[in-house]
Amino acid sequence: MNMKKTLFSILSAGALIAFCFAGCKNTTTSEVVETAGECGKNAAYENIMTRTSVRSYTGRLVSSDTVEMLLRAGMAAPTARNSQPWHFVAITDRAKLDELAATNKHGRMLQEAPLAIAVCGNMDKALDGDGRDYWIQDCSAATENILLAVNALGLGAVWTGVHPIKERVEAVSKVLNLPETIVPLCVIVIGYPNESPQPKDKWKTENVSYNTFE
Ligand SMILES: Cc1cc2nc3c(=O)[nH]c(=O)nc-3n(C[C@H](O)[C@H](O)[C@H](O)COP(=O)(O)O)c2cc1C
Repeated sequence: MNMKKTLFSILSAGALIAFCFAGCKNTTTSEVVETAGECGKNAAYENIMTRTSVRSYTGRLVSSDTVEMLLRAGMAAPTARNSQPWHFVAITDRAKLDELAATNKHGRMLQEAPLAIAVCGNMDKALDGDGRDYWIQDCSAATENILLAVNALGLGAVWTGVHPIKERVEAVSKVLNLPETIVPLCVIVIGYPNESPQPKDKWKTENVSYNTFE
């Protein structure tokens, strides 16, 4: 009986691993198991290297489950002293998206997007003293996590900047009814891609030094 159970568990685990990595490489089950770790790493790296700003979207709506996955990705980001000094506003209301488009002359893509996420700093949760402005880095890390999750899930997005441009902070705060303690860092415009821009090659050796500045 125990033998049967053990055999069943081994076969199920094998099938599950084979299923998980089937899309990664055409290999036999044993090869898949051997290369599973390597394949997982490549998938994450490829996702980073293929992310690029997408500014045109189809009319397809984004499900609430997918919105939550994106928000969870944002909240998985590192923050100074784990302070999590943020608040996310997910916007799907057509009228609000159009109002947001008017807050940024470089944000016209909001007019055709089905979703935007405003990533905001929560000043009640930001650190006191010299570390106060860490909220900007914390919220930037959350923003990049959302952009990467967007790419992994087959959506497209673009980061549109708000803070530190005072006029935009005021305009976005008004549209989203934000209290003074909630400061919008950016609005991520999201949808299913209606364009396939090539990721830019930004590798420049002049931007790198090893050990000391050269
Ligand atoms: C702080 C910040 C503000 C940005 N603001 C805008 C914006 O208002 N409108 C826009 O179309 N793109 C905006 N972008 C996107 C950049 O233009 C884009 O990331 C850059 O050109 C590099 O292209 P890539 O994202 O395809 O690698 C912003 C990006 C950052 C990081």
